[in-house]
Amino acid sequence: MRSHLVTFYLRSLSQSNLFSVTSISEIAMPDIFGKTMRDALEGKDADYILERDDGFIRNTTGRDYIKPFEEWIEGEREAILNIEGPILDVGCGAGRVGDYVKSHGLEYYGVDLSPLAVEMCHKRGHENVFVMSADDIELGRSDFKTVVLFGNNFGLMGTPEGVVKMLKGFHRVTADNAIVLAGSRDPEDTDDEAHLAYHAKNRAEGKPPGQVKLRNRYLNEVDDWWYLLLCGKKLMAELAEEAGWYLEKTIEESGYNVGVLRKKGL
Ligand SMILES: C[S@@+](CC[C@H](N)C(=O)[O-])C[C@H]1O[C@@H](n2cnc3c(N)ncnc32)[C@H](O)[C@@H]1O
Repeated sequence: MRSHLVTFYLRSLSQSNLFSVTSISEIAMPDIFGKTMRDALEGKDADYILERDDGFIRNTTGRDYIKPFEEWIEGEREAILNIEGPILDVGCGAGRVGDYVKSHGLEYYGVDLSPLAVEMCHKRGHENVFVMSADDIELGRSDFKTVVLFGNNFGLMGTPEGVVKMLKGFHRVTADNAIVLAGSRDPEDTDDEAHLAYHAKNRAEGKPPGQVKLRNRYLNEVDDWWYLLLCGKKLMAELAEEAGWYLEKTIEESGYNVGVLRKKGL
């Protein structure tokens, strides 16, 4: 989701309201995230389109999800230095974080809703990866010291309520003093008129500016619509606070923030 923005619209492709809308967490068929990751791992270009419901599109690629540490964006590279094991990677995709974690001898668990992504993780040697939703984690342990939410996954539940529910759930599976590495693009770090108009419409409808309705297009397939909540520092701090975490620091890099959320005592 971090590729460059294209500046044209596909309004003719936009058929808003013809489809039901879910959070990213309820993406089912045709599992486009999983297919782009599988194809990227097979050496294909895996380019796909992320389409917003106002017709704005972004060209992106499954290759982003298999990048080695050296090619990650700077903010994620700096943030990962904070980890202590065991580590839980939520919405883990093809397991690029797992590659880093295991190369440092730490214990790695991952969850993802995409069956194909989980299959790819298993094939790549990450055995403790499960098909599971971020807001309903049942792994039979409560000692994770780090939860990772990279690739904009802080907002993967799609709404403020969904994010708070997810973060509250992390309380049950983490040790005292655990951290969450919360990645999110700051939606308001832009002067693009299409984005500013989208934010204004959201505010007028009582939604956070960065609540975006999206779907993926890959080859001849298209996902159902889903929501992603992009958060700046202020909203991230508020949602964390509501869920029993606090924003200890933020690592910023060209509009993409990784918040380090620290677990509060009871
Ligand atoms: C943008 S990708 C990021 C993948 C990975 N974190 C990375 O940065 O390479 C988002 C991933 O989150 C997964 N996902 C979406 N909703 C989820 C949920 N509720 N629980 C777990 N995984 C979810 C998708 O299947 C997809 O693999």
